[in-house]
Amino acid sequence: MSLLEIKKAGAPVLKQKCVPVEKVDKRLRLLLDDMAETMYHAEGVGLAAPQIGEPIRAVVIDVGKELIELINPVITFREGSVKDTEGCLSVPNLYGEVERSAKVKVEFLNRRGKKQHLTAEGLLARCIQHELDHLEGQLFIDIAESLHEGEHKS
Ligand code: NI
Repeated sequence: MSLLEIKKAGAPVLKQKCVPVEKVDKRLRLLLDDMAETMYHAEGVGLAAPQIGEPIRAVVIDVGKELIELINPVITFREGSVKDTEGCLSVPNLYGEVERSAKVKVEFLNRRGKKQHLTAEGLLARCIQHELDHLEGQLFIDIAESLHEGEHKS
């Protein structure tokens, strides 16, 4: 496995709409491994493929329970609304309040190409929405209120 360079705000790849993964193969699984290692090393809770320079629809997330890999994820259900502080590994040291759905259901492929779904609330729901925004070329700073510098890490 190897650490990948995390692209920072301003990099064109972060503004791109990402293309679906066509083939869930060994190359993709190696990329997911490297993304997870990069995320853990940076002490983040989520990382989307465009953040390491690959404009494809793949995401890794770990909010402290388990590693979740989402390939071609689609949110199929949303409920409620909640505002909380967010940050991003591509936007070091900047935080802001972002309104998100409180609960989401997401459909995706796992690393074996099998269709899965999960329902999430709390930090996991927030993280899923943040990472899926990356796949649309949107950063949290595009939609956040009251951006501020600080120590908060998420
Ligand atoms: Ni981010």
